[in-house]
Amino acid sequence: MIKIISYSPIVLFIAIFFILPNCFGQTYAKNGMVVSDNELASEVGVAILKKGGNAIDAAVATAFALAVTHPQAGNIGGGGFIVYMNASGTTTTIDFREKAPLRATSDMFLDENGELVEGSNHRGLKSVGVPGTVAGLFMAHQKYGSLPWKELVQPSVDLANNGMILTYTLASHARRMQDKETPDFLKNYFKNPDGRLVEFGETWRQPALAKTLELIRDKGKDGFYKGKVAREIEKYMKANGGIITQKDLKKYTAIERAPIKGTYKEFEIYSMPPPSSGGVALIEMMNVMELANLDSIQFNSTAYVHLVAETMRRAFADRAEHLGDPDFNPEMPLEKLTSKEFAQRRFRNIDLERASVSDSTKFGQLYDGTNTTHLSVIDKNGDAVSLTYTLEYSYGSKLGSPKLGFIFNNEMGDFNPQPGYTNSERLIGTDPNIIQPGKRMLSSMTPTIVAKEGKPYLVIGSPGGRTIINTVFQTVLNVLEYEMPIHKAIEAMKIHHQWLPDRLIFENHLMSPDTQKALEGMGHTLYGTNNLGRLMGILNATEQGVYIGASDSSSPDGAASGY
Ligand code: DON
Repeated sequence: MIKIISYSPIVLFIAIFFILPNCFGQTYAKNGMVVSDNELASEVGVAILKKGGNAIDAAVATAFALAVTHPQAGNIGGGGFIVYMNASGTTTTIDFREKAPLRATSDMFLDENGELVEGSNHRGLKSVGVPGTVAGLFMAHQKYGSLPWKELVQPSVDLANNGMILTYTLASHARRMQDKETPDFLKNYFKNPDGRLVEFGETWRQPALAKTLELIRDKGKDGFYKGKVAREIEKYMKANGGIITQKDLKKYTAIERAPIKGTYKEFEIYSMPPPSSGGVALIEMMNVMELANLDSIQFNSTAYVHLVAETMRRAFADRAEHLGDPDFNPEMPLEKLTSKEFAQRRFRNIDLERASVSDSTKFGQLYDGTNTTHLSVIDKNGDAVSLTYTLEYSYGSKLGSPKLGFIFNNEMGDFNPQPGYTNSERLIGTDPNIIQPGKRMLSSMTPTIVAKEGKPYLVIGSPGGRTIINTVFQTVLNVLEYEMPIHKAIEAMKIHHQWLPDRLIFENHLMSPDTQKALEGMGHTLYGTNNLGRLMGILNATEQGVYIGASDSSSPDGAASGY
C-alpha cells in the first residue's frame, strides 16, 4: 500500500523519479507517520497527529486503540516500554513492565520436589503480572504529551462501543478458540450479546471494554488502579485462584529510566535498559559487528550468518548471566556489557571457521512465541516514539473478568521459574531474574531509536519473544551498515541464536540449501521456522523531505499510515 498525500511538486518529482521505483511496501508522508500491527489503530494515531498532537500523544492513542483492535497483544492488561527522543535530542524511556504480585514467591510454580510444574508459570491467574500499561501511557502523557488525555482515550472508547469490522485474522482466531482448552472468557470474547460468534466482515463490539476505557478516560491512571476496576480485579482474582490484590494495583508505578546508549559508526542508538535485556544485548552486538570487517563479508553468506550467530550466542549468554530488574539488581555491569572494550573481547573469541558450543551447565533460555506488538511514531517536529508492549502469549493468560472486558497477561512466565536450575533445552535459573514480590520480570522487548546528527533517524521494534532482540539487531544493521531501504531491511532474511538451546534458527525458504549445509559443516545445528520478526519501522529521510514507514509483510493487519 502506498499513500502519498499533499506533496509539493518538487517532493512529488523526487518521489516519482527516485523513491517510487524502490517503494513497494513502504509508505511516504511529509508530516507524520504511525506504523502499527493494525490499520485502524495507525489511523487513530495519525488523526491525533493531524489534530496537532505530538508523537507521545499519537503513541498513547494508538496503544489504546490496539487494546481494542489487536487484542492478541494490544492491551491494557499487560505491560511494555516506550523509548522517546525529540528532535532537539532529549531521550528517555518509560518502563511499564508488569510486576510480580506481593504474594508471589520464588517457588510458586514448583511441585513438592522443587521441580517446575510444566507450563504452570504461563497458565492460569497465578501467571498474571500486575499490569503496567495504563500507568505507563499515563506517565508518558503527563510528562511529554500535549493534547488533553481524554482526547487520546476517546477514539478507543468509540472503537469499542461502535464496533469494528472483524478482520479475517481475528475471525480465524475466534473460530480456533472454540476448543475445549480455551477458557470461557476468551471463547466468548468474539461473541455478540446474543451468543453468536462474530464472523469475518461483521461488526464486532466490546461494550465491557468500552466501560473500562471510559473510566480510564475520565480518571486517568486511577480509573484502572483504584476504584471499580481495581475492586473487580481483586474480586475476580480471589474467586478464581489469583493473587493480585487492590494493594498490588495501588502500589504499581511506571518508571522513567535513562535509555541504554551506544553508537554504530556515526549513528547513536537509544534503546530500552533493564528490566528489558533488549537494549544491552543490541548495543553489545552492534559493537561486535562494528569490529568485523563487513566490507569483506558478503551479506547473508555462510561467513556472515556464522559471524552474526556467534555474536548472538555471546550476547545471550551475557543476558542470561547478568540481567534482571535493576531495582533488585543494583550491581548489573551495564556499562561494561555495552562498552567497545568488552566487544573486543567478545569479537576476539569468535572462531570464524567453527561454531562454539553453548555450555549447558551455565546458561539457558526459553524460546517463546510471537505475540507482542510494536508501534513506531514520528511527528511533524521529528519527535519519535518507539513503543513495544505485550501480554506475553497470544491473548496472554486468555483470562479476564467479563465485567471489565480486557485480557490479563501471563507475564510471570518471563521470570526464571526454578531457582538455580538451568538446562540445555528450556530452563534458566540464574539469580537476577528469580521471582520476588514486586519485581519486574526480565524482558526481551527492544523498542529502539537510532539517531543521526542528534535527531531521530530510525524508529524500530518488533514482537517475537527472545527473537525480538535479534530481529531488531539485524534490521538496524541492514539500515546502518548496508543502507537498505527500510522495507527491505525489515523483509531481509533473519536468523536467531539465543545461546541455549544451541540452535541456529533460520527462515525457511530464505536460506539456500548450500548455505545451510555449509553452516552445518561448521558445527551449527540448524532449525527452520516460517518467520522471524514482525517489525514496524520508520525512517526519517530528511534529505528527501519525507518519512518512510514500513509494516512487516508478516503482519496481516498492520499498516504504516501518514499524512
Ligand atoms: O517481554 C518479553 O520479552 C516477552 N514477554 C515478549 C513476549 C513476546 O514477544 C511473545 N511474542 N511476541
